[in-house]
Amino acid sequence: IDIKTLRGVTNGVTTIDPGYKNTGSCESAITFLNGEEGVLRYRGYAIEDLAEKAEFLEVAYLLIFGELPSKSELEKFHSDIKEHSHVDEDLKKILDGFPKSAHPMGVLSSLTSALVAFNPSSVNVESEEDMYNAIVRILAKFPVLTAWAYRKRVGRPLDYGDDSLGYVDNFLKMMFKKPNGDYNSNKTVVDALDKLLILHADHEQNCSTSTVRMVGSAHTGLFASLSAGINALWGPLHGGANQAVIEMLEAIKEDGGDTHKFMQKAKDKEDPFRLMGFGHRVYKNFDPRAKIIKKSADEVLANLGVEDPVLDIAKGLEKEALEDSYFVDRKLYPNVDFYSGIIYRAMGIPVEMFTAMFALGRLPGWIAQWREMRLRKEPIGRPRQVYVGETHRDFKPVEDR
Ligand code: ACO
Repeated sequence: IDIKTLRGVTNGVTTIDPGYKNTGSCESAITFLNGEEGVLRYRGYAIEDLAEKAEFLEVAYLLIFGELPSKSELEKFHSDIKEHSHVDEDLKKILDGFPKSAHPMGVLSSLTSALVAFNPSSVNVESEEDMYNAIVRILAKFPVLTAWAYRKRVGRPLDYGDDSLGYVDNFLKMMFKKPNGDYNSNKTVVDALDKLLILHADHEQNCSTSTVRMVGSAHTGLFASLSAGINALWGPLHGGANQAVIEMLEAIKEDGGDTHKFMQKAKDKEDPFRLMGFGHRVYKNFDPRAKIIKKSADEVLANLGVEDPVLDIAKGLEKEALEDSYFVDRKLYPNVDFYSGIIYRAMGIPVEMFTAMFALGRLPGWIAQWREMRLRKEPIGRPRQVYVGETHRDFKPVEDR
């Protein structure tokens, strides 16, 4: 049924659906998700296959342009990205204005928004060529800004990457290279991050993606739409959960490791505490990404020789939840954020950067969804409401109130 017919059928009646639990906001050919069966596919390819066999940049290309790239297409894509990996030095002055304690997500959304001023040609993008130019620029500059947000926090010099490296390895070098330039590329770490970024790359109409599409539907440019998406992702009920999970696991450890006590707390409706990293709006079965990440956590920690007691606490919580009728009845399973933080931490990425890592992974998905929305010439997003406030009131001058 098309929208004009639907309006005729409903005769202007507005449906109310808080949280859009049953409302589709668009048609999309990017990501398929079946929450009952625990299935996730990008452009028809199973997430398990992509995580195992593809590289992040290939997946980014797939999501954005719809097909896996040929070798030469991938090389051109990567070289176009490298060409734009410099960031205007004046942007450092904006970064300098932030206190060191500023949360990296706030810094990233501000810098991404500020990029608009330094790249005015990225604003009015109508043709596919304009879009491509904006896309390669942001894919190039966002890892630089993410690394800068981290380095500013730890008081290290801000620098650029190394074009001879792959996209993910280059990002890790920008993050961790010593002031003398030393950096030891570690295949376990590069592969693990590549996989995590692929798993986070898109997830259909989640809160941040819907935000990007909504803001972009006003024909706001790509960078400003992405900046809005970064802010949406920051929230602890969304991407911010990966930071909240580690903080929760640490709190359980500090408290003596009694997982049962925290399970009871999560079930108590008087207590606002929720088991972070559990539950999902769409998955009512295992989140397929969580399965891959759990396996990866075991492998990465073993390869790096890291022992992290919170991994055992996490596994204990999961085991207990799977046997607890509260979680079973509500179909609450570990989500993508439950084990990812344990891997980030083993790689040396600090907790406050976890959600920024999620943003780096989600970037191609946001871009793909923004591009699709523009190419489909979708109308401006503008939900209705049901008004429940006062009816007409007569105005009284201030001296009579
Ligand atoms: N711990 C305890 N109870 C929970 C949890 C949880 N983590 N999640 C949901 N519930 C309960 C709710 O209290 C509610 O119980 P009720 O039926 O007795 O009222 C029921 O399960 C349904 O929960 P809703 O909040 O209605 O589900 P919704 O789809 O709106 O929320 C969400 C999904 C936000 C992910 C929720 O499960 C949650 O807050 N989880 C913890 C935060 C988290 O991990 N977020 C990351 C999600 S993945 C991502 O964004 C990348």
